Amino acid sequence: MTLGPIPVTRTTSPRPRTPESELGFGKVFTDHMLTVEWTAKTGWHDAKVVPYGPLAMDPAASVLHYGQAMFEGMKAFRGADGKIRLFRLMRHCQRMAAGAPRLCLPALPPEDMAAAIQAIVRTDADWVPGAPESSLYIRPTLIATEAFLGVRPAERVLFYVILSPVGAYYGGGALTPVKIFIERQLTRAAPGGLGAVKAAANYAASLQAAVRAKQDGYAQVLWLDGVKHETIEEVGTMNLFVVIGDELVTPPLSDSILSGVTRDCVLTLGREWGLKVSERPIAVAEVVAAHKAGTLKEVFGSGTAAVISPVGELATEADRMVINDGKVGALSLRLYEEITAIQRGTRPDTHGWLTVVD
Ligand code: COI
Repeated sequence: MTLGPIPVTRTTSPRPRTPESELGFGKVFTDHMLTVEWTAKTGWHDAKVVPYGPLAMDPAASVLHYGQAMFEGMKAFRGADGKIRLFRLMRHCQRMAAGAPRLCLPALPPEDMAAAIQAIVRTDADWVPGAPESSLYIRPTLIATEAFLGVRPAERVLFYVILSPVGAYYGGGALTPVKIFIERQLTRAAPGGLGAVKAAANYAASLQAAVRAKQDGYAQVLWLDGVKHETIEEVGTMNLFVVIGDELVTPPLSDSILSGVTRDCVLTLGREWGLKVSERPIAVAEVVAAHKAGTLKEVFGSGTAAVISPVGELATEADRMVINDGKVGALSLRLYEEITAIQRGTRPDTHGWLTVVD
């Protein structure tokens, strides 16, 4: 551990509370945030919990010009027993540490990041909601703050963590099947690019396609490979799974696919349940053929925010494929129920996925 004890300065003006039923996603923030500074000379230092508020930053800070930024997204849950549980804390911390070098950002050692997250969640523990479908969304962020316009890795960096009590990711509530447009023109991530990293830039790259899709009545897009636009990569901001016949399939990890934590949960549970689980390339043509043959049973996205997001319809300009009558599939439902029950502590945590915050 390099950080040492983390001092807490408590707010003197607590923020207004939003009723749990009106939270939405990512709109409400808690009373405090955590910050840790890094400089090339000193390394990581000055970890502290302070009142939530604007960051003072030089307008020349490299993050504002060259986008040297990445983030994580994880959740804490309040169980029926009142305990607060962090879901897959270490895996998220390890993923950030693994991704940072691609952006030439320094990684906080995973043990330090985990301790920092526990410190901020403990400080704002009474903000963790308990209503069904609600949780505390945790957003660790790494940004280059050096005031310098030359293009090279910044020598001053800020790691910070903010917390947002959230409800369901999509307005319709959890497990509402969504309509997805198959994007054949724009690309989220290319071979050799940033797609495997939770880089802020990936999300900027995704916005235009998402906006166009929304204008046409879709919730999000299906991302295809960046070279030929033939094989499936991700869906919206999530990993993608399809059930063809009795096989549960997801694309294999590559440098253009994020190593999703929920993806790992789905693969782990699917294998434990004795399903035929494959990580292999899926061509759009295969999905279309399976739909025609009646063997395309389910399509769903997996991610921290929505957990499992069933796809009720996949469409191109010319065609539309309605999946499972536009209804939630049996496996999507089973996975959602199992994962959320483990998160809330109502089913046994046999994989060591939970960290109780005390
Ligand atoms: C997720 O958790 O599925 C995401 O990546 C969405 C997040 C960027 C809001």
